Amino acid sequence: MNKAFKRTLITSALPYANGPVHIGHLAGVYVPADIYTRYLRLKGEQVIHIGGSDEHGVPIAIKAQREGVSPQDVVDRYHAIIKQSFADFGISFDIYSRTTSDTHREMASEFFRKLYDKGEFIEQTSMQYYDEQARQFLADRYILGTCPHCSSDRAYGDQCESCGTSLAATDLKSPRSALSGATPILKETKHWYLPLNKHEDALREWILEEHTEWKSNVYGQCKSWLDLGLQPRAVSRDLDWGIPVPVEGAEGKVLYVWFDAPIGYISNTKELLPDSWEEWWRSEDTRLVHFIGKDNIVFHCIVFPAMLRAEGSFILPDNVPANEFLNLEGDKISTSRGWAVWLHEYLEDFPGKQDVLRYVLTANAPETKDNDFTWQDFQARNNNELVAIYGNFVNRALVLTHKYFEGKVPARGALTDYDRETIAEMLEVKGEIERALDGFHFREALRQAMSLARLGNKYLADTEPWKLAKTDMERVATILNIALQITANLSLAFAPFLPFSSERLLSMLSLEPLAWDSLGSLEQLSVGHQLGGVELLFEKIEDEAIEAQLNKLRKIRQEQEAAARVAGPVAPEISFDDFVKLDLRVGTVLECSKVPKADKLLQFRIDDGLGGRTIISGIAQHYKPEDLVGKQVCFIANLPPRKLKGVESQGMILSSMDADGSLRLVMPEGAVAPGSKIS
Ligand code: 2FM
Ligand code: ZN
Repeated sequence: MNKAFKRTLITSALPYANGPVHIGHLAGVYVPADIYTRYLRLKGEQVIHIGGSDEHGVPIAIKAQREGVSPQDVVDRYHAIIKQSFADFGISFDIYSRTTSDTHREMASEFFRKLYDKGEFIEQTSMQYYDEQARQFLADRYILGTCPHCSSDRAYGDQCESCGTSLAATDLKSPRSALSGATPILKETKHWYLPLNKHEDALREWILEEHTEWKSNVYGQCKSWLDLGLQPRAVSRDLDWGIPVPVEGAEGKVLYVWFDAPIGYISNTKELLPDSWEEWWRSEDTRLVHFIGKDNIVFHCIVFPAMLRAEGSFILPDNVPANEFLNLEGDKISTSRGWAVWLHEYLEDFPGKQDVLRYVLTANAPETKDNDFTWQDFQARNNNELVAIYGNFVNRALVLTHKYFEGKVPARGALTDYDRETIAEMLEVKGEIERALDGFHFREALRQAMSLARLGNKYLADTEPWKLAKTDMERVATILNIALQITANLSLAFAPFLPFSSERLLSMLSLEPLAWDSLGSLEQLSVGHQLGGVELLFEKIEDEAIEAQLNKLRKIRQEQEAAARVAGPVAPEISFDDFVKLDLRVGTVLECSKVPKADKLLQFRIDDGLGGRTIISGIAQHYKPEDLVGKQVCFIANLPPRKLKGVESQGMILSSMDADGSLRLVMPEGAVAPGSKIS
């Protein structure tokens, strides 16, 4: 700590290129990283911000297989979408590259080879599932089976998504390959492991003693991992998508995605600065800062640093300001369930309002705990803060100057005590924002910037220059000069957070970008300076726009509920003996009529091959009785008789409920003799 650094290297987690990015990504990683980068740039520091797409790994391979395209096709598609979203939201990367670039493949491969040559890996064989039909080892995600906890038959080899339990592939009952459906066999395979235990003492000292300043959520998670004791971690996988393991005898094996991805920070720096990248990665006076989400903490604070230590020539991160998660309207954001606000869709619905989202996501950032994004809060922050405070103040200052001084900055006369107090408060904001940003407290920093707008708003409301215009133009000039200096300072104070609005405000002021050091100055605008045209900085968001977003989410929720109704969790397992107790048969409908005074019931006379039986079934709202005569249905033949509306029902007819709640009778695919058994 407190080392004198010459330059700052900022990295943002490389998002997987298997889907577009959403507000959770932005709030957790990219907006804070961008604010920090812009802040250091404004201060004139030497800084670069490195980003890119993470394009390897099993989920990408699976997605490609499902779509019948190559993994490269999948990552090409999403890399382009993600890159565009970041550009649209002003995430100012110095480079946004990808882990399928030649530079990256080469560097990741060399990195592995160096560790291999130095003897930094251990080789271990283990038994892993192998699909004999597809002739390949199966990654955990490629193995499906029955969850030992909740009996869902769709659990994956690493996790059951029905009950959320983490699993090992060998925990699954009745495992089957997602590739061929075949039952996999256990087969021996060799992998390379990074012995994290060898680095444990050094990591313990480095984090727990030398980096006590790290955010408590990050420090706490590292401490738990270290206290549990570190184990060797496999850094290779049996897979055909990824960077080949560059040693002999490793055919069919690739680098584990979490081995190659963080090396992407280095390779992307090399792609950006082919001649000077080493200065950024190998010089002790570079300060490395990783912006990530909390699920990435162990990889950035323990695994990657262990890799860097083993390699030996690179610096370690100085800080890893990880955020917690952002939820959406009370529920976890989920790409697979579609529960998200996608950035590209947001911009279609709210064109030009990037800064509103940046503002809301920063004001409500999940810095110390998980937080919730709600559309109501979004609307309230826009209308009550951006419009009513910041926008309103700026608009009044500019419009009044145009009205009374033809848009030229008027001169200050004698100052009152109140003027002096206001100016003194304005001067304090710089220190407050800096303190907050230097400590990665982005919410607080934004609050401080907004407090400057509040100050300006209050100043105009209290001094009421519009009332003085007839009597004391010198006083009006002083007030407006001060209000305009505050306005110019606002464009600077908000510049890291709301870059689009700051740019527009600068153009209304006819000013070139200001240097950070001048923040709080009373001399941002010289007397006589001609202002530009006035436009609204922010617009009110109406209820209808919010209702439309809520409706979108309601629709997603309804679809999810319908899907859950259709494919709800599987019932607890029964024995085969229990199953054969059920006497299921096919019968032919001889007669069918409505049961009087019962909306839902139909009365059937069924030819069951045994002289016939009567069954009552609750499907009257889904079929006309006359349409069913002559049809064959399936029924349970050995239930005890039951009286319904005075009629004895001798069994149950089988039907299935569709997502919309409608019922369909289960019927044999071809005609069979009445009374035939179902097995
Ligand atoms: O969690 C994720 O989305 C990963 N793709 C992050 C990788 S960060 C870095 F290591 F590249
Ligand atoms: Zn389960």
